[in-house]
Amino acid sequence: MRIAIFSTKSYDRTFLERANARFGHDLVFFEPKLEAATARLAEGFPAICAFVNDVLDAEVLRLLAAGGTKIVALRAAGYNNVDLDVAAELGLAVVRVPAYSPHAVAEFTVGLLLALDRRIPRAWGRVRENNFALDGLIGHDLFGKTVGVIGTGRIGALVARAMRAGFGCTVLAHDRFETAELTALGVTYTNVDDLVARSDVISLHCPLTPETRHVIDAAAIARAKPGFLLVNTSRGALIDAEALVAGLKSGKIGGVALDVYEQEADLFFEDLSNEIIQDDVFQRLLTFPNVLITGHQAFFTEEALTAIAETTLGNVAEEAAGRVSANRVSAATGTAAGRRG
Ligand code: NAI
Repeated sequence: MRIAIFSTKSYDRTFLERANARFGHDLVFFEPKLEAATARLAEGFPAICAFVNDVLDAEVLRLLAAGGTKIVALRAAGYNNVDLDVAAELGLAVVRVPAYSPHAVAEFTVGLLLALDRRIPRAWGRVRENNFALDGLIGHDLFGKTVGVIGTGRIGALVARAMRAGFGCTVLAHDRFETAELTALGVTYTNVDDLVARSDVISLHCPLTPETRHVIDAAAIARAKPGFLLVNTSRGALIDAEALVAGLKSGKIGGVALDVYEQEADLFFEDLSNEIIQDDVFQRLLTFPNVLITGHQAFFTEEALTAIAETTLGNVAEEAAGRVSANRVSAATGTAAGRRG
C-alpha cells in the first residue's frame, strides 16, 4: 500500500525501509509535520503514517479523508493528538504501536537517575576541561533509599524491579492495580500522598489523563521529603513545571531529570540551536545545576525503533487486507492518554 510518512527524520526512513522488506509497501517520506497546511501532500495516499507532534484534528482528518486516505498509522503508542470521534465519523481506521520496548524507557529512566544524582554530565564537562576537582559532584548511594514509582505498568514495573532487586532500594508504588510480581519482590503499594511523602526518589510512569495531570504540583512538592529527586520519562504534563521551578528555587527539590516536558511539542525533536526559545519556564529549568533534561529520547533504541517500524507497517498491512488490526484505536476505547512513547 502507498503510505505517506510525515515528520520523517533520517532514522525513521532507515528503520521503516528496513522493516518494509517484509511488507513491500510503497513508502513516500515527507519531512514536514502533518498539519492543515501540509495535509494535501497525502492526497491520493490510502494510508498515512504520523508521529507524536503531527496534528490529527478534525480539520486535518477531513482533508485526509477528502484526499482518499483510509488508514492513519501512528508510529507511537499515544493517540491523544487524534480526534477519534471525527476519525470514526469519516471511516478512517486509526492504528498505533501499543508497546515496543518498555526496556528502552525503563533503562533510560535508571540512567537518568544515576546521571542526575551522581552528576555525571557535570563531571564529564569538567574532565574535558582538565578540571578533576570533585567539589559539587557529591551524590548518594541508592542502596537503602526509598524510591516511589507512580504507575507500575510495562515500564514502571521494570523500573520498580530494577530499583528493588538491582539496587536494594525500598520501593513504594502507586497504581490503580497492584502487580503481584512486584509485591512478591517486596514492593509496597500505597496512595500517591503517602508515596510522595516517603520517597527519596519519585519516578513517574503513569499515562497522562485528567486524573494524573499535574500529579506533581505545588502541594505534592510541599508534601515531599526535602531534597527528593524527581524523574519523569512519561508525559510532561504529569508535572506542573512552574511549581517545579519554584521547588527548585526554594531548594526543596534535590534534583530533577526530565525526558518529557509539558510544552515539548514546540521544542523537542528539532534542532533549535539557532533559535530564540520563547518558553521562559523551560529556559529557567535549564539554568539549574541540579536539572537534567533530555529531548524525549527514552524510547530511542535500535530495538524499539525496529519494533515500531515493524508494528506500524504490519498494522497497515492488516487494515489494507480488510482486517481490523488488533492495534486499532477506536473512539470507544480512546482515552486522554499521553502524547506517545
Ligand atoms: P502502561 O499502560 O503499561 O502502564 C501505565 C500504568 O499506569 C498502568 O499500570 C495503569 O494502571 C497506571 N495508571 C493509570 N492511571 C493511573 C493513575 N491515575 N495513577 C497511577 N497509575 C495509573 O504504559 P507504559 O507502556 O508503562 O508507559 C508508561 C508511560 O510512559 C506512558 O505515559 C507512555 O506514554 C510513556 N512513554 C514514554 C516514552 C519516552 O520515550 N519517554 C516512551 C514510551 C512510553
